[in-house]
Amino acid sequence: MPDQTELFTWLDSCPTPHHVADMAARVLEENGFERTTQLGADLPVNGYLLRDGSIHAWRQSTQDSQEFLIIGAHTDSPNLRINPRPDIARHGWHQLSVEIYGGVLLNSWLDRDLGVAGRVMLTDGRSLLFSDNSAIARIPQLAIHLDRDVNDKGLSLDRQHHLVPVWGTSQKSSFLDWLATKVHCQPNEIAAFDAQLFDITKAAYLGADHSLIASGRLDDQVSCWAATNALLQTSQQKNKTVVVSLFDHEEVGSHSAVGAAGPVLEHLLEALSVGQGASRTQHFDRLANSLCISADNAHAVHPNYPERHDLQHAPLVNHGPAIKLNSNQRYATSSRGHALVQTIAQQADIAVQVFVSRNNLPCGSTIGPIAATRLGVETVDVGVPQLSMHSARELCGAQDPAALQRLMCAVIVA
Ligand code: CO
Repeated sequence: MPDQTELFTWLDSCPTPHHVADMAARVLEENGFERTTQLGADLPVNGYLLRDGSIHAWRQSTQDSQEFLIIGAHTDSPNLRINPRPDIARHGWHQLSVEIYGGVLLNSWLDRDLGVAGRVMLTDGRSLLFSDNSAIARIPQLAIHLDRDVNDKGLSLDRQHHLVPVWGTSQKSSFLDWLATKVHCQPNEIAAFDAQLFDITKAAYLGADHSLIASGRLDDQVSCWAATNALLQTSQQKNKTVVVSLFDHEEVGSHSAVGAAGPVLEHLLEALSVGQGASRTQHFDRLANSLCISADNAHAVHPNYPERHDLQHAPLVNHGPAIKLNSNQRYATSSRGHALVQTIAQQADIAVQVFVSRNNLPCGSTIGPIAATRLGVETVDVGVPQLSMHSARELCGAQDPAALQRLMCAVIVA
C-alpha cells in the first residue's frame, strides 16, 4: 500500500480552493520554485503564479522549448458557502444563511459536523486565510417521525429552506465577530469574506483491507496533489516546458477571471515563449506541438448501480487512472491523445482504464475541452475512478492517486 500520509495531510489542510492554491505554493516554495506576480518580468526557470484560488507552476526546459506539457486539475469542490449577511435567529436557534456552490449532493451534507474555512479581505487590503476544523455548524435532518414517507418516496430538499445550518443557541455575537477572532482583527476591519462549510472528518483509509480512501474533496484534490508532486519529482526537461495549472471555478463552469475559461494560462504560456525568445507565430507552433493532461476524477462502477455504466467502459477502483473519452467533446481526448498516453503508460508499466459514459445518461465535463478550445492544444482527459462524487465525503481506491502521479511523471519525462 503506498504511503498516503502526504495526500491525507493535503486533503485535511485544504478545505477551500484558496487553501489548495496556498498549499501548492508552500510546497513549491520549499522546493525552490519562485513566486512571480508580473508576467512582464524575467520568468524564473522554476516559478509559479498565484491568482486567488488558482495556481500555475512551471519548469522551463534546459534548451529552447519546442513544446509545452500542461497538466491541469481543479482546486474547487461543490460545497455550501456562507452569505455576506448570514445571521439568522429564530425558534431558539442561531443559523447561518448559505448559498449552494456547484453540483452539491445535498443529502450528504445533512447531520455532519461542519467546520468553516475561507478567506477574509481586510479594509487595509490584506487577505488572510482561516480554517476552523472544530464542529461549528450542522444541518440537522428532519426526524423520521415528522417525515414518515422519506424512505419510500425519497428525500426532497428545498434548496433555500432546508439547508440552513444551525451554529448555536445562545451566542450574543454575530458571524462577523466570530470571524474576526479567527483572523485576530476587529470586526470593523473586515471588508468582505469567503467562508465555506466543510465536513471536519479527516481523510482516512476505509475497508478491512485498507484498500480505499474516504475524504471530502477527492474530486479534484487527488489530481492537484498528484500534479504538484509529479512536477517536483521530475527534473528539468531538455526541450519541454512543463506547466501545472490548478484552476478554481471548475464546478461552476470555469468561466471566471481565474477559471480555466479565463485567459491566465494563455497569457502565461505566451509569456514563457516570449521569455525564451520565440516569436508569436513560433509560439503558435509550440502550442500545436504541445500536450495537455486534464486530470479530474472519473466515475468508478458502483456495485449497487452497475446499470449506470456502459460495462465495456466502466472503470474499477484500484485498477489505475481512467482515460476519459466522449466523441461529443465533453471530454477532449482524441484517438491520437489516447494512443500517446496509453503507450507511455504501457512503457512505464502503469495500468490505465477507459471510461465512456452511457448514451442515455448525460456526461459530465472537465477543464479539458475548455483548455483545448482556448489553446488549440491536444488534450487528454484522465482521472482517478471514485464513488460518491460531489458528496461531502467521497471514496476512491488507495492505489490510484499514486498511480496517477506515476502516470504524470511518465508523461513529463517521455
Ligand atoms: Co472534478
